[in-house]
Amino acid sequence: MEVGISVNGTDYRSDVEPRTLLVHFLRDQLGLTGTHVGCDTGYCGACTVIVDGRAVKSCTMFAVQADGRSVRTVEGVANGDELHPVQEGFWERHGLQCGFCTPGMIMSSVALLEHNDNPTESEIRHGIEGNLCRCTGYHNIVRSVRYASAKLRGEKPEGASGEVAP
Ligand code: FES
Ligand code: FES
Repeated sequence: MEVGISVNGTDYRSDVEPRTLLVHFLRDQLGLTGTHVGCDTGYCGACTVIVDGRAVKSCTMFAVQADGRSVRTVEGVANGDELHPVQEGFWERHGLQCGFCTPGMIMSSVALLEHNDNPTESEIRHGIEGNLCRCTGYHNIVRSVRYASAKLRGEKPEGASGEVAP
């Protein structure tokens, strides 16, 4: 079947099999391998992308369901060489270790902050609860999102940058 999907602002027309998952379309047909596959069962969140403004696990959606829609992946969040505040936050607040969960965490965080630019800690934890991280203990991920939230609101992010997760 032919689909037309906007990905990171570029329109793609492609032939896909009806059973092709969106994550495989992004990775295998478009070469956008920043979106990771951790479980393929909707559990880990590593494959999270933003579809029409909502964070979606791209292993739970067929590419044909994205026909006519707008998809954003981790490759599209930076502004040229300038990191998105969420990416900067993960860098500044040590929000990652192995990095496997990071693309999905970033996309869930971007979607969260686009709906609420000043989330509480519990709102941040709720916003990323569909994303599993085996490494960080989540503490520094929450700090990373708080950093991004402050930056997006034009405030100075709080705290030192050297803390690590307990
Ligand atoms: S790969 Fe999609 S939720 Fe794990
Ligand atoms: S940083 Fe390793 S899984 Fe999250």
